[in-house]
Amino acid sequence: MQTLATIRNGFSESETMIPEQVYREIASLAYEKFGLDLRRGKRELVSARLSRKVKESRSASYQEYFDLVKADATGQSFLYMIDALTTNHTSFLREKTHFDFLSKHAPAIFADRDRICVWSAASATGEEVYTILMILIEALHLPFPNPQTLSRLKVRGTDISIKALNEAKAAIYPQDKLAPLPEDWKTKYFLKGRGKAEGMAQVKPQLKQMAEFESFNLIKPSSPTMKYPIIFCRNVMIYFDKSTQERVTATLVDNLEAGGFLMIGHAENISGMDDSLTRIAPALYQKKR
Ligand SMILES: C[S@@+](CC[C@H](N)C(=O)[O-])C[C@H]1O[C@@H](n2cnc3c(N)ncnc32)[C@H](O)[C@@H]1O
Repeated sequence: MQTLATIRNGFSESETMIPEQVYREIASLAYEKFGLDLRRGKRELVSARLSRKVKESRSASYQEYFDLVKADATGQSFLYMIDALTTNHTSFLREKTHFDFLSKHAPAIFADRDRICVWSAASATGEEVYTILMILIEALHLPFPNPQTLSRLKVRGTDISIKALNEAKAAIYPQDKLAPLPEDWKTKYFLKGRGKAEGMAQVKPQLKQMAEFESFNLIKPSSPTMKYPIIFCRNVMIYFDKSTQERVTATLVDNLEAGGFLMIGHAENISGMDDSLTRIAPALYQKKR
């Protein structure tokens, strides 16, 4: 763990652990605003995650850093603090069984539909969104690049992390992150970086245009603007306690068509949280018709 050296009256004092009171205040705000459950036994984690923020903001202590966060009326500093407390870890083709299911069933699910729309809630840096797009193009034999495919296919990615959303929009990844993808997809859907961008790969503009990224807080009540046949909401439930998981599940069900499919992370479990969902495979639920 990093150590903060704070100088007071000419004496150096080590502050490795966030003061209990500051920790409690941060944990209760994170819970109230975003449902993140950091309230019990996470003091060390919060200290470690925020120590860099304290340094970056040139604050002398966790308290001073948190005072700066609270003084920022735009709310941006608060969002960046929340960012540091969560992880945006994700990858292409992560938890592949969901994509095998999507490949196999997409032709039936989207038969006779003009518009093909999927929602990736908690999309982090975008790999999940771009994976869904590539899988759908291949499974539905959609021409790519092609203006008709562009107007038919849309994957919406949402998250609370501004930093992750910006990275998702930029869609530039280290080339080794593409390793799980089939070899021919790497040239079909990505541009290889040269010169300063050596070692990087960028999603081709024609694929990027089918992705739509925006901020969306899963615990904020909202009325759905449309119903999706498929929603991915993976590896975010782990941050929530049971009552928040139930609320989030209700929101997702609200946004799902009758007969639609909900994918969650394989380490997560929402069985029994909503009567309208049937578990049809590990981490895969279907809304009753
Ligand atoms: C580990 S990533 C999951 C990425 C991707 N779904 C996957 O499984 O690979 C978890 C994401 O959940 C987001 N998150 C945390 N709380 C959230 C909330 N209340 N609403 C929306 N997104 C949230 C975080 O910002 C983070 O990007």
